[in-house]
Amino acid sequence: MSTEVPHSGFEFYDLKPAAPRIQEEVSAGLSRRQKTLPPKYFYDEQGSLLFDEITTLPEYYLTRTEIGILQERRDDFARALKKGSWLLEYGVGSGNKSRILLDAIQPSAYVPVDISSDPLLELACSIHDEYKEMSVYPICADFTNAFELPSAMNGKEKVAFFPGSSIGNFSRNEACEFVGNIARVVGAGGSLVLGVDTRKPASIVEPAYNDSRGVTARFNKNILQHLNARLGTSFRLDLFDHRANYIEDEGCLEMHLVCIHEHEVKIGEETFHFRQGESICTERSYKYSRDEVEDLAVGAGFVVDQTWTDAEQKFMVVLMRVKS
Ligand code: AVI
Repeated sequence: MSTEVPHSGFEFYDLKPAAPRIQEEVSAGLSRRQKTLPPKYFYDEQGSLLFDEITTLPEYYLTRTEIGILQERRDDFARALKKGSWLLEYGVGSGNKSRILLDAIQPSAYVPVDISSDPLLELACSIHDEYKEMSVYPICADFTNAFELPSAMNGKEKVAFFPGSSIGNFSRNEACEFVGNIARVVGAGGSLVLGVDTRKPASIVEPAYNDSRGVTARFNKNILQHLNARLGTSFRLDLFDHRANYIEDEGCLEMHLVCIHEHEVKIGEETFHFRQGESICTERSYKYSRDEVEDLAVGAGFVVDQTWTDAEQKFMVVLMRVKS
């Protein structure tokens, strides 16, 4: 199952996640009454760069607030999580947040899991170089489905880490199912450190997804560019406007691409009609109250152990445990 990565000194667990059936997924989404596109298609090379830029914007409070909490609470993590446990991270980014937890809890092994092998291996190599005493087991897998863990992990105390409020991009039911899978993976006595964006007024949430420099608008429209490259479609970016609106009752921020001029787009043999004013919903980002986090944890088989937040309660880092 694993292969040694040349010159790296660690094993790579490539579970070869199935290639997505893009055309089928896109066609299914655009056939709905409210047209949708899967947000995973934001992230081609350009989309990932734009997302990195979003995380530095003054309006996008999420990333810097979460990092602030992680840094400020590193002693709490050190106290709450056992040294020498195995840290399993779902999805990889720059590794900035991972390093804070690695320094705090000093695990004996770090297991980053991601569907894209290049960023995964890049992170694994740099972490392996920086933390000489620790084993690194990168796993390339679609973590939204159950996946196989290295057998060396059996019987080890496990801490899962899912930062970035990525949980918000699942519907509330999907989130519960996903966190339930994590509970089964970490098992009795295992933990999850989860980054969650909190419910707050639209006046704060909406600018985070509709910034003054138009980076999020470019990120949103880039999904069409990416599909043009992958599917040979001819979506015209100039025929759509970016819109972000927060539905306060649901605690859900929706991003849309709004058609500004009636037109049609061919995908394979199918033709999709876009009316003026009609939109494609490209992403939902759910925000959580403390009660909703509690419900999520309990529904998934965890109990909330500790919750840390910033002074303005803009973001929460939650430690949950499976009872042993
Ligand atoms: C990746 N995810 C947590 C981001 C969010 O805030 O929902 C994606 C994003 N979309 C627009 N800006 C950021």
